[in-house]
Amino acid sequence: MKTTIFLVVLAVLSANTALVPNPAVPRQVASRTNLIIGHIGPYDRLYYRTYLNQAPLPNAVQTQDVVFRGTTYNNITAVYALEVGYTQYAQAWILSGGIGRNNVTVRAQSARGYGFYYQVEVWGR
Ligand SMILES: *[C@@H]1O[C@H](CO)[C@@H](O)[C@H](O)[C@H]1NC(C)=O
Ligand SMILES: *[C@@H]1O[C@H](CO)[C@@H](O)[C@H](O)[C@H]1NC(C)=O
Repeated sequence: MKTTIFLVVLAVLSANTALVPNPAVPRQVASRTNLIIGHIGPYDRLYYRTYLNQAPLPNAVQTQDVVFRGTTYNNITAVYALEVGYTQYAQAWILSGGIGRNNVTVRAQSARGYGFYYQVEVWGR
């Protein structure tokens, strides 16, 4: 399987330019501030796992995107972004792609003055 993975865009944003989750993108938020979309079936496998980790910065909102691009044979069934350790009140959501696609872009965004530490997993069949 040939996959290309890009870690992109770390931006520190000021108060008025803070990005908010796009309400048009369906998402399911479980406990804490985790992103849990879809579910992992018995024949699914882990396409990709990575960590998005930023230390707190005073008075700053930080964002980081991760892009997974699979092959035409990949079919994503679950996308997780799970906070590691204590909660830092961050958020994670899908910017594009996702379930039924072969690619997905996940964005993590810190609360102001906090960092984030997410384990991101993309599963599929
Ligand atoms: C992905 O899987 C779903 C569920 O099995 C299926 O309905 C869909 O057609 C698949 N998409 C592709 C591109 O294979
Ligand atoms: C993501 O996959 C869909 C098909 O599943 C494709 O139409 C789209 O162009 C892909 N986007 C990127 C950025 O690769």
